[in-house]
Amino acid sequence: MIFINEEKRIFNLRTENTEYVFGLDNENLIRHIYWGNKINNENDFEMDVLCEVSTNDPVYEITPEEYPVFGGLRYSENCLKVTFDDKTRDIVYKYDGYEVDGDLLVIKLKDVYYNFTINLNYKVMEKYDLIERFVTITNESDQSIVIEEVYSGQLHIPYENLTFRNTHGHWGAEQQMFKQNVSYGKITIENRKGVSGHNNNPYFILDKNATETSGEVFYGALRMSGNFKGVIEQTPYGETLVQMGINPYDFQFTLNPKESFTTPPLLCGYTDKGFEKMSHNLHNFAKENLLREGLRPVLYNSWEATEFNVTCEEQIKLAREAKKIGTELFVVDDGWFGQRNSIHNGLGDWYVNKEKFPKGLNPLIEEVKSLGMKFGIWVEPEMVNPLSKLYIDNPDWIYHFKTRERTTSRGQYVLNITKKEVKEFIYNMLDNLLSNYDIDYIKWDVNRPICEGGATNLGENERKMAFDHIQAVYDIVKELKKKHKNVLFEACASGGGRIDLGILGIFDDFWTSDNTDAYDRLFIQHTYSHIYPIKAMRAWVTDCPNFLSQRNIPLRFRFHSAMMGTLGIGGNILKWSDEDMKLAKDMVEEYKSIREIVQEGDFFRLENTSTNNYHLFEYTKDNEALLFAFLPQTQIGHRPVRVKLRNLDEKGMYEYKINGETMVKSGSYLMNYGVNIHLRGDYQSEIIRFDRR
Ligand code: DGJ
Repeated sequence: MIFINEEKRIFNLRTENTEYVFGLDNENLIRHIYWGNKINNENDFEMDVLCEVSTNDPVYEITPEEYPVFGGLRYSENCLKVTFDDKTRDIVYKYDGYEVDGDLLVIKLKDVYYNFTINLNYKVMEKYDLIERFVTITNESDQSIVIEEVYSGQLHIPYENLTFRNTHGHWGAEQQMFKQNVSYGKITIENRKGVSGHNNNPYFILDKNATETSGEVFYGALRMSGNFKGVIEQTPYGETLVQMGINPYDFQFTLNPKESFTTPPLLCGYTDKGFEKMSHNLHNFAKENLLREGLRPVLYNSWEATEFNVTCEEQIKLAREAKKIGTELFVVDDGWFGQRNSIHNGLGDWYVNKEKFPKGLNPLIEEVKSLGMKFGIWVEPEMVNPLSKLYIDNPDWIYHFKTRERTTSRGQYVLNITKKEVKEFIYNMLDNLLSNYDIDYIKWDVNRPICEGGATNLGENERKMAFDHIQAVYDIVKELKKKHKNVLFEACASGGGRIDLGILGIFDDFWTSDNTDAYDRLFIQHTYSHIYPIKAMRAWVTDCPNFLSQRNIPLRFRFHSAMMGTLGIGGNILKWSDEDMKLAKDMVEEYKSIREIVQEGDFFRLENTSTNNYHLFEYTKDNEALLFAFLPQTQIGHRPVRVKLRNLDEKGMYEYKINGETMVKSGSYLMNYGVNIHLRGDYQSEIIRFDRR
């Protein structure tokens, strides 16, 4: 709901439980007033007159502006920086009215001198307690304007000493959560690599002593892949501010006369009910608005089994084994095309390798289909190897500088897909692949960052490559999906390097990490779940010792860990024993019976109250709940854990089995007293199902 007090010039955005309020102040600045629990009385809000602390603390510095621009007596972080044609660099905006269109409020600002407008957009997502902020700038003049910085928004939190959370990490160790006390000085999180990274992730979580189920949390996630930046700053004036949007690093572009530019949306929310509620709001938004319907299939992927040594014969053997354990989708990974025998060749030459597939792909696809499975294939369309025919024929198609040596990484260059002909080539290549073969799933990989992208097709002084690159990826996939409606796309970037809310929905699945160690995955998945929905979290069961950790973990624990997301099998099942195959079959069958709850239910990170190192998670949907309990290593063998479940019907009676015994307890008992779990030994795990009678 949007309430506007015309007289006081105050705007009030109300969601189911929260309120976000701002208005026009006596200096004609758009000033933030309130973000917190719903107050329900829009007329209570006032716009106080702000006075400067001293001449050294100008009013522009202390005013919590919704969208501070570069100019005047502003020295802290700003959201918009431009150079007008006559080299004037300051923006001086005035309020130019508002528009409401359903749940969208647009605050119109206009430069007092230049024909340049800034529309601050606020979309109220009532049901999810979220507000989406984005900005549209328009050059209404006849001269061009250079844009150096344009963030999606600034947020104000009326506290000091908050705790900030985000991820650090690298390949094979994505989604490592860090938390940091916010004090004076700035915290910057960003990505500069062109594609999204394994390091920081485009979101912020700021809390005031919150737990999973209590405490205030302010959070936001950017709907963009690639180069983002977030700045978190505790100001000297008693608040914490956050800015997030396109990274101004190596960024600049010209807004030509009559052109507009819209920033990626920043989805933000508040709750006083802890991290759990934050995750549910974001998950529900993603599930209901971004993700396509339908349960995700159990897949088999051949990468860890064969790496580049893909052959038709062996893939058929793998497919037959995969079918035996109940796999529904068979995905051939890297190595099926061009002269792809290692990282050094093949990318760009998207024809089927004749030595590996003498009769083409069809014998494999036909076999997979006759086994009743879907078929998927790996591609890395944004890349090219220097030895490929594509590169030899089109050396100008990559990002490069004419006078500089071109930099390879993983033996490959990045195609400049902002060029029309390159973008068309990629679209056509994929369209042909999907039209010529019966393919249901594309795993789209990207295995290096972008560099030497300075001069793109935009013009010599333009620096918008990273932004335009990812838009081109989005365009290609959106276009392909119009024609090939049922094909699912998995976003992979050397593991989990492309996990963000920009790509989610355009792509359907995230490859979460190349780290398939079932123990490490508990942490990766835990952090992932703060922002991103479980349904998009691909998790494979692979071989032991794990290629990264060299750790041996029992197959049952490996399955349970992977069953926390969308299950895949990625080991060399040709080498699995009969006993392992039997267990795998049972596990896949069990997963199928619970996957609706896992993929579409509500997810809970439960508290471990034991000194023993339990990892506890719950999923609920309608009348059912699942408890996943893991004990990687016994520390104090005799310590059980009493787990209090969440989100059950207090009065409902739930039946569950524990240690072979069937129990029936009320929801209220299970949520307040809890259930005693006692795992013994190392790498022990259980999934317990609670059915409401
Ligand atoms: C990186 C991915 O994360 C892996 O799963 C695999 O597809 C390789 N690339 C293939 O080169």
